[in-house]
Amino acid sequence: MSKKFYITTPIYYVNARPHIGHAYTTIACDAIARRQRMLGADTFFLTGTDEHGQKIERAAQAAGKTPQQLTDEVSAQFRGLWDRMGITYDDYIRTTSDRHKRGVQALWRKIRDNGYIYKDQYSGQYCVFDELYVDAAGPGSPCPECGRPTETVKEENYFFKLSAFQDKLLKLYEQPDFIRPETRRNEVISFVRSGLRDLSISRSTFSWGIPVPDDPKHVIYVWLDALSNYITALGYGSDDAKLYEKFWPADLQMIGKEIVRFHCVYWPAFLMAAGLPAPKSIVAHGWLLFEENKMSKSRGNIVRAETILEVMGQDALRYFLLREVVFGQDGSFSFDALVQRYNADLANGLGNLASRTLAMITRYFKGEVPYPSAGAARRPADGAIAEAAGRTIAECNGLFDQYQFSRALELAWGLVAAVDKYIVENEPWVLGEKQDEEIRAQLVTVLYTSAEALRIVTALVHPVIPEATAKIWTQLGLGDIKTFRLVDLKWGQLELGTKLGSVAPVFPRADKSAIERMQEMEEQGRGAVAPTASEAQPSAKPAAAATATTTAAAKTAPPIPEGKIGIDDFTKVEMRVGQVRVAEKVQGADKLLRLEVDLGNEVRQVVAGIAEAYAPEALVGRKVAIVTNLAPRKLRGLESNGMILAASVEGGKPVLASFLEDVPVGAKLK
Ligand code: ME8
Ligand code: MG
Repeated sequence: MSKKFYITTPIYYVNARPHIGHAYTTIACDAIARRQRMLGADTFFLTGTDEHGQKIERAAQAAGKTPQQLTDEVSAQFRGLWDRMGITYDDYIRTTSDRHKRGVQALWRKIRDNGYIYKDQYSGQYCVFDELYVDAAGPGSPCPECGRPTETVKEENYFFKLSAFQDKLLKLYEQPDFIRPETRRNEVISFVRSGLRDLSISRSTFSWGIPVPDDPKHVIYVWLDALSNYITALGYGSDDAKLYEKFWPADLQMIGKEIVRFHCVYWPAFLMAAGLPAPKSIVAHGWLLFEENKMSKSRGNIVRAETILEVMGQDALRYFLLREVVFGQDGSFSFDALVQRYNADLANGLGNLASRTLAMITRYFKGEVPYPSAGAARRPADGAIAEAAGRTIAECNGLFDQYQFSRALELAWGLVAAVDKYIVENEPWVLGEKQDEEIRAQLVTVLYTSAEALRIVTALVHPVIPEATAKIWTQLGLGDIKTFRLVDLKWGQLELGTKLGSVAPVFPRADKSAIERMQEMEEQGRGAVAPTASEAQPSAKPAAAATATTTAAAKTAPPIPEGKIGIDDFTKVEMRVGQVRVAEKVQGADKLLRLEVDLGNEVRQVVAGIAEAYAPEALVGRKVAIVTNLAPRKLRGLESNGMILAASVEGGKPVLASFLEDVPVGAKLK
């Protein structure tokens, strides 16, 4: 019987559309799943969306939609993106599906019947953004994970006896592969050693969740709900649990490092409480950063996978993320680096090796792979390539097994470089023009060696760049690469007389305009689908306040008292965060500065009366609040398109409104 392999991604929140941070995890899992299939494992690859809880309920309110509408829309966006990216998931689980709800309730009953659930009063802090109970903190204190203000929760809840699992969990962490990398393992161990408190696992003050069995006033805590997806998707708790029997425990659960506690403490404890086995391995990768910050929906500094797909193709994105980021560590994304890597490694590297090798076989051997005759002299240089290829197979496989993608790829490209050098040194284009028999034999060896090395690299990196390698494989005349078994890969399998397919370049070079196009698409995209209000300015005000405002506006407004304005009057004024790019004195006007202010999707000229208070050079780079929908007016012949907000003190100099926390350019003030 063949080995089985069950791999999962986190299920993503549907409060906002996907970005390349989500794509990163999904791509890594897809590469692993593809590789396992090539190794012959019976593979099951699960992804999906996390759709319940307060965070989603509030995002829906802010968007003026029902939670179900929002989750249907955004879940479809995620799925559509994975489909366009060629992600080979076997199932897509949504936590609002009936099969999931049934499974979660079955798990709850099991844990309850085993005596690990009791009812008690919860009083403490809660972070809606992370859907995390923050036990030790006092009212108003910030969330230790994200720094946003927590909210006080006081309600009668169900509790899970997490404290009963301390020793069992510590025992579990002794399995070296349970949690990787080592740094995360150490964090988890010290967290659990410091003592575990029982965990509230239900909420009763909102309703967007799965009802607690036999007590529907409560909904199940969204993390218990979400984590269960890994088994409900396999049919746990249903009449048909064949997949569960076959695939659980998971072989690999991939997550980002910010959700380690949920996966390595709560999740195995829930499973143990239900008498079920813990997953075999959890791997936490680092964050993709954009301009030094974690790329996140709430920061608004996201890059969408769609943009890169459209301009550069799926392989470029996959290769870049897995080659450039050291798996487990944080890594930066930039369009420049993406295009540079693409050109260096894909267009000039693998792409060039493929096209020159295949073109010469076409030219000198009528498109049929030549094979060195038994007696042909093999020079050290030929043998060196064959040996390097053999080494590359072994080492690359070892690194892929450890999820060391960047090192595995670096190694494979080491072989590409070696073959390139070999071709340059042997000048097959010169050999090909001579009639001499010995030289002809040499040409056979050089082209065979190059083509065979190309075949080996192609097979090794297929899980990472599936689209292009499938093309190279057919160009090599080898048919469908999906049916190739990686375990069999060794030097010399390319057969004499193999007829090449039609040869065409697989990685056209990208130029500077590719970068510009991507930047443009992102700027437009950001304007079109901005994060919701409560998300855009995470720590500016508690989400509760934001929701209250939205709900008040939605109802028919009561009469507005004298001297007050209604919310409608207020929202007529549009204000945004801008960043000063250029600041200079206006000739002949002591008080005026001419500013160019970046608003995220456009740069505006604003003329402001702040020259007495601010030196122009002190303003460049500074974030300011701008009224953006004021009709343009002329000051000293200069058009001013907006107004900068400043406090004016009687007899004093103006003081610019500014932000203590980091806030994305273009974010709306409300
Ligand atoms: O946490 N860099 O969902 P989520 C790298 N629903 N990876 C990133 C990333 C970034 N900048 N941004 C997101 C949740 N990710 C819960 C999970 S699981 C039972 C429930 C990836 O939408 C990374 O895998 O916030 C991270 O853990 C995940 O998306 C979080 O997605
Ligand atoms: Mg998150």
